[in-house]
Amino acid sequence: MIEDSALVLAREILAAPIGGARIETKLTTDQQVLARVTDGIYRQPASAIRELITNAYDADATSVVIQTDSPRFNQIRIRDDGNGFTTESLASLVHHIGGSPKRSIDGVALGVTQKEDPSRSPGGRKLIGKSGIGLFAVSQLTRHFQIITKTKGQDFRMVADVILHTHSEDEVRKERPRAEYETGDVEIWRVPAIDIESHGTDIVLLDLLPKIKENLRSEEEWARAEFIRREDPERAVTLPNFHIGRIDVKNPETILIAPRVPWAQQDSSPVRFRKLVDAVVSEAESTERNPTLEKSLDNYLRMIWTLSLSAPLEYIDGHPFDTAQDGTARVYRLSNERGGQAEEVVLKTGEKIRDKISLTSPSDTGRSKFTVFIDDVQLSRPLRIRPVTEVENPLGGPLIFVGSYTPDLSKFAKELRGGSLSFEAYILWTPKIVPKDHIGSLIRIHEASGALFDETFMKYQVAELTRLKQISVEIFVHEGMDAALNIDRESFNFAHPHYQIVAEWLHQAIRQFTNRHKALLKEVRKEQKTAAVLAGAASLNNIIAKAAFSAKNLNVSDGEYSPVKFVKEFNGAAVKEQKAGAVVFNIGSEKQFDRILPQLEAMIKILDAFGLLEGLSYKQQQHLLGSVADVLLYMKSE
Ligand SMILES: Nc1ncnc2c1ncn2[C@@H]1O[C@H](COP(=O)(O)OP(=O)(O)O)[C@@H](O)[C@H]1O
Ligand SMILES: [Mg+2]
Repeated sequence: MIEDSALVLAREILAAPIGGARIETKLTTDQQVLARVTDGIYRQPASAIRELITNAYDADATSVVIQTDSPRFNQIRIRDDGNGFTTESLASLVHHIGGSPKRSIDGVALGVTQKEDPSRSPGGRKLIGKSGIGLFAVSQLTRHFQIITKTKGQDFRMVADVILHTHSEDEVRKERPRAEYETGDVEIWRVPAIDIESHGTDIVLLDLLPKIKENLRSEEEWARAEFIRREDPERAVTLPNFHIGRIDVKNPETILIAPRVPWAQQDSSPVRFRKLVDAVVSEAESTERNPTLEKSLDNYLRMIWTLSLSAPLEYIDGHPFDTAQDGTARVYRLSNERGGQAEEVVLKTGEKIRDKISLTSPSDTGRSKFTVFIDDVQLSRPLRIRPVTEVENPLGGPLIFVGSYTPDLSKFAKELRGGSLSFEAYILWTPKIVPKDHIGSLIRIHEASGALFDETFMKYQVAELTRLKQISVEIFVHEGMDAALNIDRESFNFAHPHYQIVAEWLHQAIRQFTNRHKALLKEVRKEQKTAAVLAGAASLNNIIAKAAFSAKNLNVSDGEYSPVKFVKEFNGAAVKEQKAGAVVFNIGSEKQFDRILPQLEAMIKILDAFGLLEGLSYKQQQHLLGSVADVLLYMKSE
């Protein structure tokens, strides 16, 4: 029985003397498909590190310190100060890949969940893990790793040394048709510890795979740049603006190109990250186009960025919901009604979005402390509401659309609804989302996100090309949605009802944003037009004043030249105006004259000031003014 083998192993570990013999055992999985997990299902080094960070979070760690031997990348060490593995949870990990004790009552005995609420960590955090495969994401990085772990109050550490096999279905079938599936070799032993009260886990990734080293060193990118330079020395080679340098692959001790990082040696860890963010932003400011992170950062720095977006961290400038009104951003509340529209919410100066709209997403200060460092850079979420760019904004500031939704799922059958669902979200509009990689919608489930920004906005079908390039959305899921995540936690099962509900809500929200945005732009254009006409009229008046002054030595305000009247027909009223001294011009019913009336009026006034209209018959006057109007119309159409 599989159940027993884990218990037996746990007993064996404890029976072996501390500092003594090693127990040898096999990694096994309960199901064939899960054996594949140890081959890796992820695409990027960041994915594995992300899983290790979330494990530390789930284990109530307050700090995670990741150390690499950058720029060489032979190994990576991830250290947390969390609860550590209990003997039982280590045994369970080794023998039950894919059988996470989290969110189940089993987790209580293993010390990974709270007794009162198995969906929470012992320390009360909403658990992120659930599938029991995250740790094996390390298989993407290495075949050889160690877990060194200690729980509080114990006088020993446990060390597990794991060598992963590459899974082959053929072999497994032939050799042991119905057995557990072996996917690696494990050695576990205990070493004495004198720091009884300390606790935490180190995961040491040894001998990183050649592909991973290559990736983290950005070898391909450097080689490509070198190739281009050799082929065509004239051509400008575009390297990422910031990088950790290039080493000689054959002789890793030799640095070929010195690193170019945006921070200085003496900068503190949080300052380093801030400088990284500022560097990326100012790069976007200085170019016409909006560069992607790929253009600004090498693979290693981009991994840091990716992790900062996905981990359960504080925001660089506070939670977007804690943005206080300072007169630049406009805030709208999204409606959940069918066909409803977003309504503007007027905040007092200094009042926060959260104060006005009751939102429950934890503020940065309201959640338990969790910090992540990578090689002396402290990560925080590089997302902020304040416009960071100097890009011209016709609306004067960003727009923020905020909403929340807890759908009533009782109309669905219990088996179909997939549990309850509750989330909050914001749509941020600004003329330029920086970096470009933040365009899209990002879904955080219990603070973590593997999928990052989905630039299709969950498959929004309307062609809103420009507008959709100017928004960035974060959706905070408090309840549900977990089951809609695929096991890699980087993509969703679109067919899951929760995914569909969130997508539909988001699409409605985007429509509300679009309507508002269109209306605001229209208003601005109208204002701009009026302002332009007024400005035009003001300068025309200056011209007239000058002409009148040189002709008759008159000031415009003297009103010594005739008023101009445009009429649609030459009727009795028009005659009356004429008799009263006005220059009357019959423009008829032609609409096109509307566009040139201020200019035409100025011309007439000047002609009049020089006395050129005097002594002409009404018919001659009409001819002359008609010709002037035609010239003006012609100039307008040029
Ligand atoms: N950093 C850690 N500290 C303590 N326990 C851990 C840590 N990482 C993993 N574990 C244990 O290993 C188990 C398996 O982790 P993982 O494969 O990521 O699956 P999941 O997180 O879905 O349970 C966890 O349930 C937990 O018991
Ligand atoms: Mg996990």
